[in-house]
Amino acid sequence: MGKTSVTTGLASAALAAGIPTLVVDLDPHADATTALGVQPGGQQDIGRMLKSPRRARLQDNVAGSSWVSNGSSDGTLDVAVGSAFTGVYDRPDLGRRDLRRLSAVLAGASNYELVLVDCPPSLNGLTRMAWSASDRVVLVAEPGLFSVAGTERTMRAIQLFRQEFAPNLAPAGIVANRVRSGSAEHTFRLAEMESMFGELLLTPHIPEQANWQQIQGAAHSVHHWPGDSAKNAAKLFDALLESLLEGQGTARDRRQR
Ligand SMILES: Nc1ncnc2c1ncn2[C@@H]1O[C@H](COP(=O)(O)OP(=O)(O)O)[C@@H](O)[C@H]1O
Ligand SMILES: [Mg+2]
Repeated sequence: MGKTSVTTGLASAALAAGIPTLVVDLDPHADATTALGVQPGGQQDIGRMLKSPRRARLQDNVAGSSWVSNGSSDGTLDVAVGSAFTGVYDRPDLGRRDLRRLSAVLAGASNYELVLVDCPPSLNGLTRMAWSASDRVVLVAEPGLFSVAGTERTMRAIQLFRQEFAPNLAPAGIVANRVRSGSAEHTFRLAEMESMFGELLLTPHIPEQANWQQIQGAAHSVHHWPGDSAKNAAKLFDALLESLLEGQGTARDRRQR
């Protein structure tokens, strides 16, 4: 839990830093598209682009996030619009040819410095399609029993996938999200994650943020939300983005889980 929130938090930080960014909304629920304030227009959504990847003209079909105009920023934050049509690819047995569909669509993404792919919750075809199109994977986990175990399982799935399909794919790390600093359970789970994953556990951690849903519901960027707690969250995403980009080349693809 927290994939979309971390994706949009990083997108907000990238916009503030002036990094030309594309968010690919691969979740059939299209939460990232909603949170980024995309106005429905004539664009082809990502589901339709995946259907004919070689004919898809990504650059003609991305939508601009309303964060850019609302924040009176002149940066680039584009969205490959999410849709229920992506659901047809979310099978557990997606073949090698289908797994390359997103890479083929993203061949037209050369004018972005950062591509963030927001994934659905399952580890089926869509998430694997994202893995095969990316060079780094970010995992998101809440510090609880099941999500720590789930993160370990996902790490193993990534290692296996990498051997078979994507030798260049590497885990960029794990973001601990919704951390409650006063919680003994969270402190215990964070220590457990640290001993399990070592340096892969990224810092800073993202705290439980009381007004997060309100910010997302208003389709606003955390960097333009009033108040100290939003300012603090914005700073944390700036630091997280910076630590993710450290030591990277210019073509940076990432996906969230
Ligand atoms: N740091 C946070 N503080 C408070 N609420 C959060 C935080 N991160 C996520 N949430 C809330 O938790 C729910 C699930 O988060 P979301 O980012 O949509 O997860 P996912 O994309 O993995 O399903 C959403 O309602 C979101 O607003
Ligand atoms: Mg989501």
